[in-house]
Amino acid sequence: MKGIVVITGAASGIGAAVVKTELTQAKRHIVAIDIDEAGLDCIKQSLTADEKERITFCCIDLTDINAMQAAVSGFCCRGDGVDKIIISHALSNENQIDQQSVWDRVLDVNLHSTQRFLAALEPHINIHGRVVILSSVLGKAGKVSNSAYCVSKHGLLGLVKSLALDWAPRKITVNAVMPCWVDTPMLRRELAPQADALGITVDRMIRQIKKRIPLKQLVKDSDVADTIAFLTSSSAAMITAQGIVIDGGFGCGV
Ligand SMILES: NC(=O)c1ccc[n+]([C@@H]2O[C@H](COP(=O)([O-])OP(=O)(O)OC[C@H]3O[C@@H](n4cnc5c(N)ncnc54)[C@H](O)[C@@H]3O)[C@@H](O)[C@H]2O)c1
Repeated sequence: MKGIVVITGAASGIGAAVVKTELTQAKRHIVAIDIDEAGLDCIKQSLTADEKERITFCCIDLTDINAMQAAVSGFCCRGDGVDKIIISHALSNENQIDQQSVWDRVLDVNLHSTQRFLAALEPHINIHGRVVILSSVLGKAGKVSNSAYCVSKHGLLGLVKSLALDWAPRKITVNAVMPCWVDTPMLRRELAPQADALGITVDRMIRQIKKRIPLKQLVKDSDVADTIAFLTSSSAAMITAQGIVIDGGFGCGV
């Protein structure tokens, strides 16, 4: 029997694209986790009856330790173990260094809840399991007014490298993907205030961004999902502790 696939941030953007890709692959049971009940419902409505049989929807705030542990006990009691974990939930709120509540919430959601969730899942991960965590190009760079998010994404890269070593004896691979400007609700929320300040629409801002990318298009959520599909496949058995940049060549220089 195949183990399950656990996907966080599954109600939107990249997480939702991973759910879609996973449904087209080998018939593993999927656990789709998100805090956004309406978003999860929306995905449920779009599925066929067969697909609905293959997914358990789990609406929790991953920073709620009791809810998270209860959810893990619930979906792991199937007894087949966990084959793949994709961590895509996050907040990208801007902050100044003295905005303690924003700092605490972003770190708690992006970094600390990921550590606690993986700790709860560890005993259930099968040999040859796969873990992919969404970091960002901001896992290696800074951004104005975004220190909490940048720190969380740097921290996740450290977690990936260390866990890859800790779990290597069980042939579990742990990798990060590091996208830049993926056209998702998160990106559009982030760009809205900047576009406002410039007196232009978000769509116009996106057209300007595309001109700065060598491949002249934004990364699609499906581009990221395809990379994750590769990293979680048997073809990527020897790739671990890596951060794969997906940026259309943006970071390659002038
Ligand atoms: N969109 C981009 O340009 C971009 C670029 C680089 C990295 N990323 C990373 O990719 C991942 C996915 O981003 P996206 O663009 O799909 O974002 P998104 O906002 O579309 O999706 C994130 C999901 O996480 C969920 N979530 C947030 N807090 C949660 C919590 N406490 N518990 C459970 N679920 C929670 C949200 O409800 C949402 O559905 C994130 O880690 C993000 O940092 C995105």
